[in-house]
Amino acid sequence: MCPWFESRWHHMKAKDLTSFAFFIFPHLEILTDKSRRPILAAMETELTEHLVFSDIPGLAQALDAMVEGRSQLFLLTDSKVAACVLPALIAESESVRRAHIIEVESGEGSKCIEIAHHIWSQLAESHASRNDLLINLGGGMITDLGGFIGSTYKRGMAFMHIPTSLMAMTDAAIGGKTGIDHDSIKNLIGTYAPASQVLICPQFLQTLPLNELYSGFAEMLKHALVADQDLWYQLTELGAITPSTIQPFIKQSLEIKKRICQADPLENGSRKLLNFGHTFGHAVESVFLDVKNPIPHGYAVAIGMMTETYLSLDISGLSVDQRNHILNTMNRIFSVLPLEKLPDFNDLVKYLRNDKKNSQSESLNFTLLAHIGNGVYDQHVSLKQAENAWQQMLIA
Ligand SMILES: NC(=O)c1ccc[n+]([C@@H]2O[C@H](COP(=O)([O-])OP(=O)(O)OC[C@H]3O[C@@H](n4cnc5c(N)ncnc54)[C@H](O)[C@@H]3O)[C@@H](O)[C@H]2O)c1
Ligand SMILES: [Zn+2]
Repeated sequence: MCPWFESRWHHMKAKDLTSFAFFIFPHLEILTDKSRRPILAAMETELTEHLVFSDIPGLAQALDAMVEGRSQLFLLTDSKVAACVLPALIAESESVRRAHIIEVESGEGSKCIEIAHHIWSQLAESHASRNDLLINLGGGMITDLGGFIGSTYKRGMAFMHIPTSLMAMTDAAIGGKTGIDHDSIKNLIGTYAPASQVLICPQFLQTLPLNELYSGFAEMLKHALVADQDLWYQLTELGAITPSTIQPFIKQSLEIKKRICQADPLENGSRKLLNFGHTFGHAVESVFLDVKNPIPHGYAVAIGMMTETYLSLDISGLSVDQRNHILNTMNRIFSVLPLEKLPDFNDLVKYLRNDKKNSQSESLNFTLLAHIGNGVYDQHVSLKQAENAWQQMLIA
């Protein structure tokens, strides 16, 4: 690349890149159609609209206006969301009434190639075109799976997310990572492909089971721990964790995720901050998935964050006071949940090594904490240090 171009390239933001691309390639309007999402994957977190609605009729009205002109609509959801959430949307939205409903079993087990195959077949049988629209209505399992389908069917069809779990509203629906699990390894196969719109309505949380609310809350705590000290204290001083106490913080939490993803859409650097708690978290989740006893993603992340808080003392300079404060707070918050017997370190090792961040090295790559509100990424940890942290976690 010539030096002039290279220096401009590094300083351009996503929208500038789009305008620049227009200048170079006058026929590029086809690429900027939001239905051609994968082509602009690296830029689109800035182009994705994230809208928060105070009630379901408001969301339904906006949805109807947005989808006008799409000939076929497909709505992907899971069996529990179909029972708890879909009826209210059918009552309010003309577009949901005319959509082809594709329903899969609820639970992480549906985030797999067999179910993806089934959905691709349904789209093909209905002659879905790239300009038809896929609406992903559900938790993070549906937004990951539906994003994967949307970004691969005919090399990318238009899709939007309507997240219904706290996890999906604050995390999974934002930032364009899609994927399915493979041989119990979480998210091994996937794409970067943000939705064109993310329509959020906290009213959906009224029917979310309490353990799933806590699961999403764990990711909100993660956003606070790596990027916003004030938010950490606000969240951890909430008396009770209910949809109404959490609601005021949803926007703030998703904005952290959005800001981090916009700065580094393809996770070459600072987006790794969002992996705090996930190296151990994904390994724990995979062990339970392997024995067909899945635990909510956020539980695994909470366990991962506690283990990685132990590591942060040794590796990234977290103070003893802050370590103790984080561990005591997390133990207090998550003590309401039934805790499964945790696996031995030996059962975790293969998944720790399989973590996408640890592709070729002997040491493991972690995101840790320097202090509350300040995460640090690319922290190299030996297997022995990781084992020590896990042993501390087990006896705590
Ligand atoms: N792509 C990303 O950036 C990203 C980020 C975080 C998590 N994830 C993925 O998201 C998934 C976890 O998301 P999740 O916790 O939402 O899981 P989930 O989608 O499995 O939902 C959890 C449970 O809640 C039910 N549910 C959802 N909304 C409901 C509602 N309003 N009322 C009643 N029940 C409802 C679901 O049917 C399911 O049983 C994992 O696969 C994880 O890997 C992805
Ligand atoms: Zn997560």
